[in-house]
Amino acid sequence: MSPPLTKPTTTSSIFFHSKPPPPLCTFLLLTALCLIGFFYTLHHSQNPKTTLQHTATLFLSYSSNSTISSYLHSLTLHPHLAGTKPSLETVNYVFSHFKNLKLETHKKEYQVLLSYPIKSSLSAHFSNGSVVDFNISEVVDLAESDKIVSPYHAYSPSGTVHAKVVFVNYGREVDYNALEALGVNVSGCVVLARKGEGLSRGGVVKIAESKGALAVLLYAEEGRVSGGVERGTVMRGVGDPLSPGWAGVDGGERLGLEDSEVLERFPKIPSLPLSFGNADVILGSLGGRTVPPEWRDSGGRSRVLRVGPGPAKVNFTYQGEKKMVTIHNVFAVIRGSEEPDRYVILGNHRDAWTYGAVDPNSGTAALLDIARRYARLMQKGWNPRRTIILGSWDAEEFGMVGSTEWVEQNLVNLGAKAVAYLNVDCAVQGPGFFASATPQLDNLLIEVTKKVKDPEAEGATVYEKWAARNQVNAIQRLGGVDSDFAPFLQHAGIPSIDIYYGRDFPVYHTAFDSYGWMKKYADPLFHRHVAVAGIWGLLALHLADESILPFDYISYVEQLQGHTVVLGKLLDRNVSLHPLVTSIQELASAAKEVEYEVKQLREQERRGDFIDLKLRALNDRLMLAERGFLDVEGLQGRQWFKHLIYGPPSDYESKLDFFPGIANALSQSTSKSQQNRQAAVQHEIWRVGRAIERAASALKGNLT
Ligand SMILES: *[C@@H]1O[C@H](CO)[C@@H](O)[C@H](O)[C@H]1NC(C)=O
Ligand SMILES: *[C@@H]1O[C@H](CO)[C@@H](O)[C@H](O)[C@H]1NC(C)=O
Ligand SMILES: *[C@@H]1O[C@H](CO)[C@@H](O)[C@H](O)[C@H]1NC(C)=O
Ligand SMILES: *[C@@H]1O[C@H](CO)[C@@H](O)[C@H](O)[C@H]1NC(C)=O
Ligand SMILES: *[C@@H]1O[C@H](CO)[C@@H](O)[C@H](O)[C@H]1NC(C)=O
Ligand SMILES: *[C@@H]1O[C@H](CO)[C@@H](O)[C@H](O)[C@H]1NC(C)=O
Repeated sequence: MSPPLTKPTTTSSIFFHSKPPPPLCTFLLLTALCLIGFFYTLHHSQNPKTTLQHTATLFLSYSSNSTISSYLHSLTLHPHLAGTKPSLETVNYVFSHFKNLKLETHKKEYQVLLSYPIKSSLSAHFSNGSVVDFNISEVVDLAESDKIVSPYHAYSPSGTVHAKVVFVNYGREVDYNALEALGVNVSGCVVLARKGEGLSRGGVVKIAESKGALAVLLYAEEGRVSGGVERGTVMRGVGDPLSPGWAGVDGGERLGLEDSEVLERFPKIPSLPLSFGNADVILGSLGGRTVPPEWRDSGGRSRVLRVGPGPAKVNFTYQGEKKMVTIHNVFAVIRGSEEPDRYVILGNHRDAWTYGAVDPNSGTAALLDIARRYARLMQKGWNPRRTIILGSWDAEEFGMVGSTEWVEQNLVNLGAKAVAYLNVDCAVQGPGFFASATPQLDNLLIEVTKKVKDPEAEGATVYEKWAARNQVNAIQRLGGVDSDFAPFLQHAGIPSIDIYYGRDFPVYHTAFDSYGWMKKYADPLFHRHVAVAGIWGLLALHLADESILPFDYISYVEQLQGHTVVLGKLLDRNVSLHPLVTSIQELASAAKEVEYEVKQLREQERRGDFIDLKLRALNDRLMLAERGFLDVEGLQGRQWFKHLIYGPPSDYESKLDFFPGIANALSQSTSKSQQNRQAAVQHEIWRVGRAIERAASALKGNLT
């Protein structure tokens, strides 16, 4: 059934630092390789589908909830914030796990600027004369509470502010407009905001700053664990702030802290996360105008009655430090036997604000279990056709730092060779399967979920439950920058997927995100972990082993058409969608040609014709089409983001989660004249049209 047992060995590592073997050895190995290659090819050309099905069945049969739970337990013994000593234990744990499985294992280090708290305090002088010193640490009853970093916002500047408080709801532009209508000006005040409604932490601070606020207090409300406080980053942009666009390697170029490009990345006013309880005391003390009715309706248990300012004054101090630290990415590599220079990458970050049982180590545990199962497949003689890379990133919580530095450093090789990036961050947060993908991967995702048992319903597949919840048509897109897919897709144009169970878990970024919480609430029997590992590992097996990449660009065309319809509703009549419509038609025609070509190649494959080079050429076109969406100039004002279909709009309240350049032109130009505004939008539509044309032409594979 399976190919010969010996693992094919190649003479050079795809990683930079491995040494070539001595010549005699190489000769013997090459001879062996030829023989192995011969048998393997013979075998492979006989029945590639059967082999993949067999591998997939074996892979699923190796699932084990107990190994995953033990990995999670080991990873979450201590808090392991990036750049701290305890985080090295998890580096070593993951490294040794890969090593012990006899996988090719690598570590890659970067020197980057992270941010830690030194001290913070908050007190209030109330109108009744009482003074309250808030205890702003988390109310935790855990043995190790001293080792947990106190609640803070990474990259907040240090500062002391003594001022009246204004409640600003979610801190969106519309909320400030509502305040203005009430005659409330936040200039010179401390704003108190609740988190939610799609606005990121950094977004809340940025808007508050622009309104003249002196500081921001941010609390998470709905469904939060009592006493929990949500840590997080407020840095703007992605990756190490001192090496924007290139890798922060030892001895490499670094901008200074006073460089304007660096300063732009950091907020100018201090901020701090608060527990709901502390926020509620301040809210209850506010006078002034009554809150707009719609603010009260947005749910929540708080006694929000009035918006302030004051009369209470708070004295808020935050002192933190920005520090150069070493971070560590860890890799296991399973060399492809036929196309070692094509990469399927599975990635998950390892660093956590606290114990990280959900975020991110439920994903790490799944990654380690996939490694275990792949190693077992290899013992049975399996080797993937293409190279599989398992990546464990550091410092994601500070702004996707570990993955971004690696992508920046390997941009050319990834651009030429990476087939797909499969991300898992918080693998298990609770019930229900959720997925995001670039559209050419939708069908693969659906097919794979049909093969994995549902963790919640006996006898059903993940697909059946997912479809029943009406979520299949709701595969999300990857326009946000919430996890490590951002550099792979939005900077490097690599087709990507992100999957998870559950959403909006109450212990997010708090000290309560522990193994105990996972076991008690999110996944008592670790069956959801098993499901994620099954889907994730199978996705990679298909991408690595199918002779023709399972990419469906017709699905991309349909999604682009859908995006165009949504966009059309937001446009002035004078703006033309024509560039989009015609370029999507071109992509559609290329996708249909490819569909026909695939049928023909499969036929030839069945006949046993030698078509390796034809397969390779077609696969390259399938792989490179996504790169067409990249634009050298990138998004205006945020040039690091190169992808014109999926990327973050700069306006946090944008109605579009696609075409970020068009979204920006639509929202930024309210100050411009109607004519200029239309011209800016039209220009961005042309740019997207050209990007889609590039993708179509890459898929066709012909010069014009
Ligand atoms: C603040 O709360 C924490 C957790 O409940 C507790 O350990 C600590 O002693 C408190 N600090 C003060 C100054 O009351
Ligand atoms: C708020 O007050 C500041 C300072 O007094 C002033 O510069 C600003 O224009 C005011 N904003 C609004 C919206 O009235
Ligand atoms: C004074 O006002 C604050 C804020 O409303 C409240 O928490 C506190 O209990 C009050 N103290 C007294 C003595 O009434
Ligand atoms: C505010 O708090 C800081 C730090 O606790 C303290 O040094 C300062 O004197 C306080 N200022 C006021 C006006 O209470
Ligand atoms: C694994 O699943 C089995 C069957 O549902 C269950 O009995 C066992 O307790 C689970 N193991 C762990 C570690 O959760
Ligand atoms: C649309 O274009 C026409 C002709 O160029 C012009 O007369 C009209 O004012 C424009 N409409 C808007 C809303 O700008």
